[in-house]
Amino acid sequence: MNLLILNASPKTKGGASRFFSGLFRLFLPGIRKKAVSLNSRKDFQKVLELFPDMDVVCLFVPLYVDGLPSHVVEFLIQAEEYCQHHPCRFRLYALSNNGFVEGKQNRPALHMLQAWCARAGILWGGGIGIGGGSMLQVLGTVYPVLIGIILLQMVLSFFSTGAVPRELLHSLAIQIITWLFLNSGVLFCMARLSSALRRKQGLTDQFTRVMIPSFLFIPIADIFMILSSLFHGRFLFTLLKRDKWHNE
Ligand SMILES: Cc1cc2nc3c(=O)[nH]c(=O)nc-3n(C[C@H](O)[C@H](O)[C@H](O)COP(=O)(O)O)c2cc1C
Repeated sequence: MNLLILNASPKTKGGASRFFSGLFRLFLPGIRKKAVSLNSRKDFQKVLELFPDMDVVCLFVPLYVDGLPSHVVEFLIQAEEYCQHHPCRFRLYALSNNGFVEGKQNRPALHMLQAWCARAGILWGGGIGIGGGSMLQVLGTVYPVLIGIILLQMVLSFFSTGAVPRELLHSLAIQIITWLFLNSGVLFCMARLSSALRRKQGLTDQFTRVMIPSFLFIPIADIFMILSSLFHGRFLFTLLKRDKWHNE
């Protein structure tokens, strides 16, 4: 089976779609796969030329204004034309993620992709709508850092005292379990999708979200957005490195 993973976020670095496509790859051992960006018009031709060789295409896309990003719409129009003149026999699955907490907000975007499949003569495999996508992506950076710090403390204490304190083992277990819990809905849906994909079957659309209650999600997201806007939308990156704008 040949599988094409398309990251259709316009962001060239980072981004939730890239995070989810990386996570989904963990569910696909043994499958021949190729991951390609669909960031902008310059990628269209390269992606279209891959279509005739593919059995499955997985599109990772952000939700923009309750729909698809404009470059994805433009790509689909070109792809419809391309598939009329070339043998495109793949099944399309999609994972759409959004900033707000409700995954069901992705339903119209998934319907648009399903309608495009019907029009272009492509098999629709089904999709996953993920709420709180940006938060899961940020947590996907924060938790490995936390876990790395704890592992470092464990190594240091092992070399200095010859033993690893029980408290460090506890906090390591807590961080890992918390991250798994926050992502549990996404991991469950991805497991179902990978199983459907391997059996070449369709899947009814699944909707999930970051596993944080909405009353907590809203203030956390508000604080993050305020800090992010104060740092010109590059909050996390300014913590890690000075960007071009600041160097000027
Ligand atoms: C122009 C624009 C429109 C957006 N519209 C919505 C929206 O309608 N609903 C929503 O929940 N999130 C919306 N978002 C947030 C994105 O869906 C969210 O940040 C997503 O995780 C981005 O994915 P990416 O990092 O892969 O690009 C919008 C973001 C942008 C930049």
